[in-house]
Amino acid sequence: MTDIKTLKDVMFKAADAAAAIQLEYFETDFEIGRKRDYSDLVTEVDKKCEAKIIEIIHDAFPGHNVLGEEGGDQHKTSDYVWIVDPIDGTVNYAHSVPVFCVSIAVEYKGEVILGIVYSPKTNEKFYAEKGGGAFLNHKQLKVSDIDLLKDSLLVTGFPYGAKDNFDHCIDHFVNFVKLGLPIRRLGSAALDICYLAAGRFEGFWEVNLNAWDVAAGYLILLEAGGKVTNFEGGKYSVYDKQILATNGKTVHSEMIEVLKKAYL
Ligand code: IPD
Ligand code: CA
Ligand code: CA
Repeated sequence: MTDIKTLKDVMFKAADAAAAIQLEYFETDFEIGRKRDYSDLVTEVDKKCEAKIIEIIHDAFPGHNVLGEEGGDQHKTSDYVWIVDPIDGTVNYAHSVPVFCVSIAVEYKGEVILGIVYSPKTNEKFYAEKGGGAFLNHKQLKVSDIDLLKDSLLVTGFPYGAKDNFDHCIDHFVNFVKLGLPIRRLGSAALDICYLAAGRFEGFWEVNLNAWDVAAGYLILLEAGGKVTNFEGGKYSVYDKQILATNGKTVHSEMIEVLKKAYL
């Protein structure tokens, strides 16, 4: 096994390099393309960031796989997979909204062991090592102590294609809104989960995310004392298509009850 210190150094180096590219191009005239869904954007900056991240990973670990949103490089035989979202919050980025980040996680034999989510515009670097706690710019993170859903601030996101109510995503939102709860939609799943880890939110749910959106945030939240399951409260994998993440208090089971309503 590669030593964790080296993996961590490379992870930080790759995140710093991507964040520098994001800052360099923010609010400039970069190219914007559309993916299969009309509102699913990809910019030349997403591609530049991912290429730089892969270059840094492969300089240090030529044999490691990279699962990246913009293509990655998964042709190796390795127990290591780097799970990379070069820009999470691309729609924000393309519209000059400063809520975006780079998200990088390291998976070893199917388990996420390291994660970083770096939001350069707010100068916030969230990171965690399995069993070593979660941090925001060197300060240890802990989820909030709010116990009940009625006192909670929630956050969610919508998948591209939400207009067709994919996996009841609109119904879930309506069911939470009907409870009269405050709900935010930042446009970056990785930051949604990190804000939860920092005690800013109590609960987050979303359908149809990909591993690159959640892998780093997942570890950061667990290491901050939070809880992540599927919508039924069962075991969660970063490859699952439903995520319920909370501070682990009573709010978790209360949110499961609300999510159940759409499937009755
Ligand atoms: C998106 C963001 C957004 C979520 C979308 C994701 P992208 O990632 O995380 O918050 O609602 O489902 O696809 O496209 O900005 O990397
Ligand atoms: Ca993403
Ligand atoms: Ca992305």
